[in-house]
Amino acid sequence: MKILKLDNVDLTYFSTNGETEALKNITFTVDSGDFVSIVGPSGCGKTTILSLISGLMKPTKGKISINNLKNDSSFVGYMFQKDNLFEWRTILGNVYLGLELQKRKTKENIEYVNNLLKKYNLWEFRNKYPKQLSGGMRQRVALIRTLALKPSILLLDEAFSALDYQTRLNVCDDVYKIIKQEKVTAILVTHDISEAISLSDKIIILSKRPATIKKEINLTFDKSQSPLNRRGSNEAKKVFDEIWRELQ
Ligand SMILES: Nc1ncnc2c1ncn2[C@@H]1O[C@H](COP(=O)(O)OP(=O)(O)O)[C@@H](O)[C@H]1O
Ligand SMILES: [Mg+2]
Repeated sequence: MKILKLDNVDLTYFSTNGETEALKNITFTVDSGDFVSIVGPSGCGKTTILSLISGLMKPTKGKISINNLKNDSSFVGYMFQKDNLFEWRTILGNVYLGLELQKRKTKENIEYVNNLLKKYNLWEFRNKYPKQLSGGMRQRVALIRTLALKPSILLLDEAFSALDYQTRLNVCDDVYKIIKQEKVTAILVTHDISEAISLSDKIIILSKRPATIKKEINLTFDKSQSPLNRRGSNEAKKVFDEIWRELQ
């Protein structure tokens, strides 16, 4: 089932300094439950695509259709490079924040979030403060805070780029596990080809700005494999070469 469709989307930024053409003829679909990555060079228009999907901006041309499957929730949830946790709030205070702001801190939702914390080994840290947690744990807390609002689609903007390499591999595995177990549809934008290969069902390759779609690749990895195990596989090497050539 399609949850999202971009149809011939263009986006041009207009400012006093002139026009910046960011996206041209962007067409792709996302199936419910899939993990889709968008890769492309820095400054090509990746974040712009996420802003359009979240409705923060409207396309200059073309159409975006969304199929919101859940009715009592926001369509998108965001995860950024910085976890944006509030240092003066406890872990529990942080994961409840969205629910408080949206006046959805119901018994049922609290139970849902508490269960996520228990399931993903953060419950015993619930009364600690963000600075007492490792970078990887903080990113997991940020994810649970986002999932608390039960978004139909999760947008990850270079969500792992700020972490050191070792931590990034582990956090990718953890986040992937949570996303798959909770059956979340996800779109990741990244400039890290290996990361995209390790996580995705589908990869969309963008050109330099103005971004056009150079290629779409469907990956056929065994779904039970962890991202870390996928990285070392022969299929990963082959796909890496293919994407690398496209980006040259
Ligand atoms: N608000 C804006 N006004 C004008 N230009 C912008 C704005 N936001 C982004 N851009 C330009 O659009 C292009 C694409 O930006 P962005 O989507 O952030 O790229 P990416 O996420 O791939 O690095 C860049 O050249 C950037 O400078
Ligand atoms: Mg960006």
